[in-house]
Amino acid sequence: MAHIDVRNLRMQHGERLIQEQVSFSVAPGCIFAVMGGSGCGKSTLLRHMVGLQEPAAGDVFVDGRGYWGEMDADEKQATRQRFGMLFQKGALWSTLTVAQNVHVPLELHWRDRDETERAQRVRDVLDWVGLAELADAPVHGLSGGQVKRAGLARAIVAEPEVIFLDEPSAGLDPVTSLRLDDLILSVRDRTGASVVLVSHERDSLFRIADDGIFLDADSRRPLAQGRPSRMQHDASLPLAVRNFLQRKDEQA
Ligand SMILES: Nc1ncnc2c1ncn2[C@@H]1O[C@H](COP(=O)(O)OP(=O)(O)OP(=O)(O)O)[C@@H](O)[C@H]1O
Ligand SMILES: [Mg+2]
Repeated sequence: MAHIDVRNLRMQHGERLIQEQVSFSVAPGCIFAVMGGSGCGKSTLLRHMVGLQEPAAGDVFVDGRGYWGEMDADEKQATRQRFGMLFQKGALWSTLTVAQNVHVPLELHWRDRDETERAQRVRDVLDWVGLAELADAPVHGLSGGQVKRAGLARAIVAEPEVIFLDEPSAGLDPVTSLRLDDLILSVRDRTGASVVLVSHERDSLFRIADDGIFLDADSRRPLAQGRPSRMQHDASLPLAVRNFLQRKDEQA
């Protein structure tokens, strides 16, 4: 299983600094939370970790190998195969059915297996996220919770070692959100994969996250690191972190 070390990452969009001095590790099997107010750079951090955006400085080490500084194109591709991602906006293909969407990663990553095996894997995963009956439905008619579950199915279908989830429960009702938490816990428990989770849902974070980092939009640096349920009661943490975890500031 993959061990990820983010070391001294500096992230920019063009000349604009988003975050700097970002360092943390994600141990195998760990559910790691990326926290912070809107616009602080959480989605940007995920894009750096999955190989979509190059850092201005620093690197993301996967089992000790620097993705940006040390790996050639083949090693990068092999590394990306170990990752699965649920994008913040779902990023499903609206003209495809649910099953076709979930099939896409297998066309890339399961090329050596036959189609019977791929089709069975898609059915198993859809069954597991509770979308078996909607397998042949077009994506554009799905509810918000169904889109998230289809996105989760697509993120995990190729059996990744690290699963990146960008706000999987945003906009969901509490019951659906709890069900999604259970799905995340059970995929981690069944496969041993680690999960990097961006979330504003503090109840969910307290319940499932083992570790995490808080990115501050004002100072453009991480302000705190640790298990969210423990950070919650830590009076020594900066106010911005306590506000986020205690939801005093609805903007957070
Ligand atoms: N492609 C881009 N080009 C330029 N700036 C960008 C780009 N994508 C994001 N940004 C800017 O980078 C900053 C961080 O954006 P990001 O999407 O990472 O924030 P976030 O923490 O995920 O926010 P949210 O909680 O609202 O999803 C924002 O100020 C955003 O406007
Ligand atoms: Mg985001």
